[in-house]
Order: sequence, then structure tokens, then C-alpha cells
Amino acid sequence: MTEEELKYSYFDTEPVSDEILEKMDEMRKKGKLVPDLTLIKRPSQIAGIREAGRINTEVLDEVTRTIHAGMSTQQIDDIVREFTAKKEAICAPYKYDGFPKSVCTSLNNEVCHGIPARHRKLQDGDIINVDATTIFHGYYGDASRMFEIGNVSPKRKKLVEETKKCLEIGLAAAKPWATVGDIGAAIAKYAHSRGYSVVRELGGHGVGVDFHEDPFVAHEAKAGTGMVLVPGMVITIEPMINAGRAAVVIDPYNGWTIYTRDGSDSAQWEHTILITETGNEILSY
Ligand code: MF3
Ligand code: CO
Ligand code: CO
Repeated sequence: MTEEELKYSYFDTEPVSDEILEKMDEMRKKGKLVPDLTLIKRPSQIAGIREAGRINTEVLDEVTRTIHAGMSTQQIDDIVREFTAKKEAICAPYKYDGFPKSVCTSLNNEVCHGIPARHRKLQDGDIINVDATTIFHGYYGDASRMFEIGNVSPKRKKLVEETKKCLEIGLAAAKPWATVGDIGAAIAKYAHSRGYSVVRELGGHGVGVDFHEDPFVAHEAKAGTGMVLVPGMVITIEPMINAGRAAVVIDPYNGWTIYTRDGSDSAQWEHTILITETGNEILSY
């Protein structure tokens, strides 16, 4: 079976419950944007995504154990690549749309998609996001963490902690029959109350049978807008929070790395979650 055929085969073997279908109809009649049935993962798919998420967590745990001042971001790439291979899994970033490395390493004023390099050494006082995505048996798990290198200034520490809080606030808003806009509204409200800005050009996403699926999960949005969250959907929440202004620029040389336009620091944390009947479950622990 092709990936596409496999995706649709679950329609027959593991159908969505009548109760959920009725509720989706109800929401549709209210004018809400309702996901198509390929976005609602079935039990066997969820089991696969959970497994990928678990390996991805082990990858980030390995980075947590080994990251240190003086090492290069290429060494982080080496650790992620080798550890993932040992688990017989695949690093999703490698060759994804031409991305040249196995993991994203984004330092200080880099918002995301930092490219590991031998010449880029971690220095005392740096903050860095390591974003890993693992494919296992065709399923995807996607998560990222921040790391503080040596003695980090109170200002940077606060940005890292408050950004983690933004993710937690987003998680609390990710409930069945809410919308993705509710997630962004909650995150932006908190971030702004702390004097931070929210990156708008990039966001969370559906994930699981592909790297990036619908819906786009904006981290700054209007409550009640966007796609309805239905039990069985798997999405990421991954707020990118800037200490300064929200505007970003893309690296003109590598075409990948996103920086804050004003040079201010940026932080990000990411989890993959399953929308459940009662709330959500983190699949990247
Ligand atoms: N892991 C990133 C995300 O959270 C995507 C990175 S794309 C890459 O969506 F090509 F840069 F790896
Ligand atoms: Co990611
Ligand atoms: Co992601």
C-alpha cells in the first residue's frame, strides 16, 4: 500500500464514531471549519505516532545529557543522527525540502531552522533551541526544547521560562471542540502581558502521518477562529516568542534560518499532542 492508500484504509477498518461525526456536523452547521477525516487519527495510527514521539523524546533526552559549552552545533547534529540511527528511526529534517542537516539548532536571535555547523560553537551565556523530528515506521513525532549554556543572563532565563509557560497555556487551551484560534489567543494574551511578541509567520501544525499537515496552528490568533479541534487530531504547539518585536527575516544565504529582524532574542518549546475526548495528551514525553 502507498502512504496515501494506507491513510484512507483506516476509513473502513477504524471508523470515526457516530457521536463524533454528529458533533462535527453540528459544528459545520454553525459555520465552523471542520477537519476532513484524514486528519482524525485512528487507534492504530495513534499507537504509531506515540511510538515515534517516544523515540523523539529519547533523542531530546540524549541531547539534554550531552549538550555543553564549547561544543559545536554540528556535534549536536552528530548526536541526534547517530542516536536516531541506533533506534532504527529516521531524522525527518534531513533532506526535507532540501534542509541539509538532521536537526534544527537555533541560537539566541535565531527564531527557528538554525542549521548545525562545525564553526558554530556554543558559548557561555547562549540560549539554544534544539528541534528534533523522528520518523518511525512511517509515523512522525516532533518536539523541541530550550537549553541554557553556562551562565545565562536573568533576561534570557526569563524569556526561556516564559516561553515554556506560553506552551503550557497553549496546551491548556487545546481541548476538543475548541478551535485552533483559541490556542493562539491564549498564548498571545499571556506573551503580550509579559512584554513579549509572538512570531506570526510560522506556527504549529497537524503531524503524524506527514511532517506538516493541516491545520496551521497560529500562536497569535482570535479566539473561536480556525479549524475545530476534534478528538483524534494530532497537532504541534510550538510558540516562537521574541523579547523584542515580532518581525522576522530569513537568511538570504541558506534560505532556511529565521532571525528576529531587530536582533532580539527568541525562544521556542514544542510538543506533539493528541486531542482526546477530555483535553489532550502529550505524545512527545
Ligand atoms: N521541526 C520543525 C517544526 O517544528 C520543522 C523543521 S523543518 C526543517 O515544524 F526542514 F528545518 F527541518
Ligand atoms: Co519541530
Ligand atoms: Co513542528
